Amino acid sequence: MAKDRGSFSKIGFILAAAGSAVGLGNLWKFPYTVGENGGGLFVLIYLLSVIIIALPVLMAEICLGRHTQKNLVGAYEKIKPKTPWKLAGYLGVLTGLMILSFYSVIAGSTIGYFFKAITGQFTNITGTQAIEIYRGFSSNNILQIFLLALFIFITVYVVSRGVSGGIEKYSKILMPVLFGILTLLLIRSLTLKNAAKGVEFYLKPDLKALTPGLIVAAMSQAFFSLSLGMGTMVTYGSYVAKKENIPTSAGWIAFFDTAIAILAGFIIFPAIFSQGMDPAQGSGTMFNVIPVLFAKMPGGIIFCPLFFLLLSIAALTSTISVLEVPVAFVVDEKNWDRKKAAYIIGFISILFGIPSALSQGGVKFFSHLPLIGMGFLELWLLIWGSIALSIGAFFIATFIGYAWKTNGAIRELKQGAENFKLGAVWAVAIKYVAPILILLILISSIL
Ligand code: PHE
Repeated sequence: MAKDRGSFSKIGFILAAAGSAVGLGNLWKFPYTVGENGGGLFVLIYLLSVIIIALPVLMAEICLGRHTQKNLVGAYEKIKPKTPWKLAGYLGVLTGLMILSFYSVIAGSTIGYFFKAITGQFTNITGTQAIEIYRGFSSNNILQIFLLALFIFITVYVVSRGVSGGIEKYSKILMPVLFGILTLLLIRSLTLKNAAKGVEFYLKPDLKALTPGLIVAAMSQAFFSLSLGMGTMVTYGSYVAKKENIPTSAGWIAFFDTAIAILAGFIIFPAIFSQGMDPAQGSGTMFNVIPVLFAKMPGGIIFCPLFFLLLSIAALTSTISVLEVPVAFVVDEKNWDRKKAAYIIGFISILFGIPSALSQGGVKFFSHLPLIGMGFLELWLLIWGSIALSIGAFFIATFIGYAWKTNGAIRELKQGAENFKLGAVWAVAIKYVAPILILLILISSIL
């Protein structure tokens, strides 16, 4: 049965895919992960991972989606029917459900911070006060659960309305506005006292810090940030027309996403060092640093709420793409109604998100899990946001390299990109470089 699955316009696809990529991964996770991993070396390995591993995988996902016109499970099934490859698809669907559950906790916090900012609660605050405010906010259990549910509900509402809808339209305005505000913040941060120390921490690689753990963290950050390894870009790729140029689009998406992450670091680290704060303060970093920066800036009272509003929207365009993976699966494969699918899956991920919501300081058990020591959200981020995405990317690369075969994939890639010359290089990246590196990195980190 040929269902009308909806489709993106050219700019619509790049915006939606960039909207999926740009989110909390860039502005919240990237800076604190750099901080925890000692600075410059992490940034360097991150950039290498984006170019060598993530960009080829991004092209592969879009290509697989456009070729099969399917969600991840459907794509595996269409090319290799009735084989265990399908299980790799199920892993992606499950990963989507789990990422949505914890991601929406932090995304909910950005809404909470928008309200705090607009009601003037950050006027003239200092670093110590900001840390206190975040501690009080993040350990308020009822509020955390409420914001989690609210954020998922908004996501469900948008996804239930189908592909093109409003996101395309307002992304065109909002993305540049976000970029503008980030530039203002950049200027403010770089002109603070001691800013240079922050820049040095951020840019100067300390080779002694090299560990397998750091490499895994950098590689999986690249997958997380570019929304790879769970079929998001396969699903979005399935809405892309044959006349679109996949390599160019993928290049732009990777460029935007990386530029915003790098920019975020240039904002956060000078600010941290000028406040004499700890660069390794973990997942609260952004919430501790940004309000103080705005407090020191003319017009901060307007820009601060605007920043958190735009951040919520950036997070929303990401959660939409995460929810779209399980929804497209049940709509395509199980013939569910889209609206029903979005509501049911949304509800399940709220339930799964509750332990993460309680792990931000509100409930001791979830904030410091016995034996493991880390909080539940951190653990989920590690399992689903790092390991599962890396395994998923490994499956996608090997599937295209060995089951579908790269010749077929290159033919698909060349549609809409007739003068794309790097097919052979891309094939080597997908067949050998990406899978071998992913496997080596994962195994060495386990050892
Ligand atoms: N890329 C998104 C971000 O950086 C998160 C995401 C991960 C979205 C996986 C989809 C799939 O915020």
